[in-house]
Amino acid sequence: MKATAKAHTNIALIKYWGKRDESLILPMNNSLSVTLDGFYTETTVEFQTELEQDSFILDGKVVTGKEYDRVTAFLDRIRKYAGKPDLYANVESTNHVPTAAGFASSASGFAALAASAVKALGLKISKEQLSILTRQGSGSACRSVFGGFVEWEKGSLEDGSDSYAVQVAPAEHWDIRVAAVVLSSKEKKVLSREGMKRTVETSPFYSSWVESIPHDLDNIKQGIRTKDFKKVGEIAEANCLKMHATTLAANPPFTYWHDTTMAVMRKVQDLRDKGIPAYFTIDAGPNVKVLYQPENEETIQTTLQEIPGVNDVIVSRTGQGVSYI
Ligand code: ADP
Ligand code: DP6
Ligand code: CO
Repeated sequence: MKATAKAHTNIALIKYWGKRDESLILPMNNSLSVTLDGFYTETTVEFQTELEQDSFILDGKVVTGKEYDRVTAFLDRIRKYAGKPDLYANVESTNHVPTAAGFASSASGFAALAASAVKALGLKISKEQLSILTRQGSGSACRSVFGGFVEWEKGSLEDGSDSYAVQVAPAEHWDIRVAAVVLSSKEKKVLSREGMKRTVETSPFYSSWVESIPHDLDNIKQGIRTKDFKKVGEIAEANCLKMHATTLAANPPFTYWHDTTMAVMRKVQDLRDKGIPAYFTIDAGPNVKVLYQPENEETIQTTLQEIPGVNDVIVSRTGQGVSYI
């Protein structure tokens, strides 16, 4: 009853931002991401009949409080699914990604947890079903079940059984790169969960956000199919700015951006003016991810590294879905 799984993070090009059901984690809109090979989580789950509760060790430290509760609540769903409500587990996880800093640790974290727990319990389930379970740990995590370019279908059923991720194209389809520009690996003040909730409830821009998604999605999928880098980059950058605009109009208003976030955004626009195609996207955190093509790797890396306030630049290729170790 023990298994280890590895899952990569993903970066959304069309963002998931807002839930219609908070308990089942059902989103307001479809989203689309690229799985990244540079950031990942490895998790080992061991169920034992003699345990009276779960334990959770993250990066060598025993976790208590909210982060622990989130893991046990998620394992409760898996136990229920497996029909073994009283079987507890020791969970040990290592994040090769900064935790809660806008690098999608919840995506790789919950995808690795779901995959290892399911295998440890000997459940034989489809990738689609694994994505449905994973979604209930963290929404963005359901996309990390798959590699390459992935769409999360919001679904329409109340029980969430049609809300899961599907692969749009495998990693091998297209070699585009993502540079993660690390400004701060500190935990953010407003967690994704809290930030999107506040936005849905109070931002007058929220309805326009939701209405604009189908158009962005159709176009970006066409761009991915035809490997049109300019098209994909432009849509992703605009979609990111739109998402962040909704937070500025929330009550109380907030932003994930720091000064250096904006400096990096400007530098990316400068690069384009100089004829180097590069586009940015930003999740719920100050750090920026830059999309570029392999031939510009050196220029992109040196240019980004030189910006004052930038601590590190970590390069990723398109990554694979969950795997077992
Ligand atoms: P991020 O940008 O890192 O995804 P979120 O606010 O979405 O930030 O989620 C961070 C939370 O995800 C953490 O506070 C923790 O509860 C959970 N998390 C991160 N890594 C793991 C992991 N390896 N296993 C289980 N839960 C994790
Ligand atoms: C801005 O998946 O971290 O990164 O479902 O509450 O766990 P929960 O939130 P999470 O939200 C991710 C938001 C985002 C956009 C995205 O990844 O699509
Ligand atoms: Co997250």
